[in-house]
Parts: sequence; C-alpha cells; structure tokens
Amino acid sequence: MRLAQKIAIITGAARGLGAAVAERFAREGASVVVADTDETLGTEVVCRVRAAGREAYFVKTDISSKDSVNNLMDTAVGLFGRIDVLYNNAGILLDGRDLPAHELSLETWDAVMNVNLRGPFLCAKHAIKQMLKQGGGSIVNVSSRTGLFGCAPKLTAYSAGKAGLIGLTRVMAAAYARSNIRANTIIPGTMDTPMNRYLFAESATRERYRSRIPLGRLGSAGDIEGIAVFLASDESAYCTGGAYVCDGGVTTV
Ligand SMILES: NC(=O)c1ccc[n+]([C@@H]2O[C@H](COP(=O)([O-])OP(=O)(O)OC[C@H]3O[C@@H](n4cnc5c(N)ncnc54)[C@H](O)[C@@H]3O)[C@@H](O)[C@H]2O)c1
Repeated sequence: MRLAQKIAIITGAARGLGAAVAERFAREGASVVVADTDETLGTEVVCRVRAAGREAYFVKTDISSKDSVNNLMDTAVGLFGRIDVLYNNAGILLDGRDLPAHELSLETWDAVMNVNLRGPFLCAKHAIKQMLKQGGGSIVNVSSRTGLFGCAPKLTAYSAGKAGLIGLTRVMAAAYARSNIRANTIIPGTMDTPMNRYLFAESATRERYRSRIPLGRLGSAGDIEGIAVFLASDESAYCTGGAYVCDGGVTTV
C-alpha cells in the first residue's frame, strides 16, 4: 500500500473529486479525515471507508473560517498525533454570479476567494505548524486550468483564485523545502462531478465539452486518484512546487 501509516486530511471530501481521493487514500493504507461543510454526504464517505475496514473520521469544516480550520487541525492532531498529508481540494464555482470583472460584485469575489484561496491558505498555515514539529509532510492543492491559462473568461474570481493557489503552492514549496514539507498542485481538466452539473445538464453542451478532449471523454472522479496518491506519497519525495495536469489532454489543443 502506497500510503501505509499516513494521516491525511482531505477537504471537500463529501462528494466529487475529494470523496474519490479520500476513499482511495484509505484503500492505500492512510487514515483519513474527511473535512466538509456537508455533514450528510461526508458521513456517508466515512461509513464507506469504515465498511471497507479502514479508519476515517468526519469533521464538519468550513475552510474559509479560521475557527473552523483550527478545530479541524486540532481534532486531527488529537486523534492521530500528526498530519502527513493535507489535500486541499474544497472549492466552489458560482455559476451565474462569477462574471467578467466589470459586472462582478464584491460579495461574489469575496465569497469565491474566501473558499478557494483563503481556505487552502488557512488549512496549510495550520497543517504546516504540525508538519514542522513532526519533520515533514505533503501538501497537495487542487487548482484548475482556468488558473493556469485563464481559459474561462466569465469566471473571473474562480480563475484568479485558482491562479493564486498555484502561486501559494510555489511560495510554500520554496519556503518549506528544507523542512521536508512539499507542496504541489493538481490541475484537473473537465471532470464529471456535481460541480459541473450546471454545464452538463444539457446533453448538447456535455457533448461539446467531451468532443474537445483529446482522450475522447470527460474525466471521472476516479481519474484524479493516481496523481493524488503519487503526490501524497513518498514516491514523489523529489517533487515540490510542481503543477500536474490531469485533463485528458485538453490543454494540448
Ligand atoms: N470538476 C471539475 O471539472 C474541476 C476542474 C478543475 C478543478 N476542479 C477543482 O477540484 C476541486 C473539487 O471539485 P469537484 O468537482 O469535486 O467539486 P464538487 O462541487 O463536486 O465538490 C466540492 C466539495 O467541496 C465542499 N465545500 C465547498 N465549500 C466548502 C467549504 N467552505 N469548506 C469545506 N468544504 C467545502 C462541498 O461541500 C463539496 O463536497 C475544487 O477545488 C474544484 O475547483 C474541479
């Protein structure tokens, strides 16, 4: 097992990409802390992990709240005494509210930034304190190709936040490399998760997105698991500050 003995916190793990990663981390031998605002779905993930004979806990967490993140980290350290992996996955996309800059309200900008950039920062800030004490760890931040290429002109706040997350990853990678704390980014493509329901409700739109992808299909939640395990595990011991695309080739065309 590639994550044996590891303690992993996965934010936004109640559904979509985060749930798949939490369940896979557990299958790879990690004990997982499922952190999400959605208690119902988060608890279901924990039940599935436990039913498979692995260790998991749900901690209701709003990553944009300092107190909530403090509680998450204190609970994880209280349960396990360490944090080996922080998988910063929780994010929001506010379709219909996230707009070109001149139309974008400050409320929407703040709402997106609070979850998509402040949230991963708060989680990292607190996890790093523990990782420094224990002598290392791995932080994986889930960004987006909108943050790398600016390819979604209407999604101003989402794209800017995801670009900021890549910058945050790189500065943390440089700052903590000598402390054996690594930080990397995953750039998913167009994945078939609840976040994209607004896009794929119409079959014609779904087909339009699918047909643009060189590998010929939308990504599934399971498609992200391999790169997530690699970056969380010691197999990636010489990788820090990187951005790893997992997108069916869509950024090649
Ligand atoms: N789906 C895609 O095509 C795609 C593409 C690129 C990047 N991403 C990124 O991948 C990550 C996961 O995406 P997904 O498609 O699984 O999304 P999703 O909407 O299906 O799931 C997101 C999860 O995050 C949780 N969450 C939202 N706000 C939170 C908060 N404040 N605190 C804690 N949890 C919170 C939600 O409850 C949900 O369980 C996101 O960061 C997203 O931006 C997704």
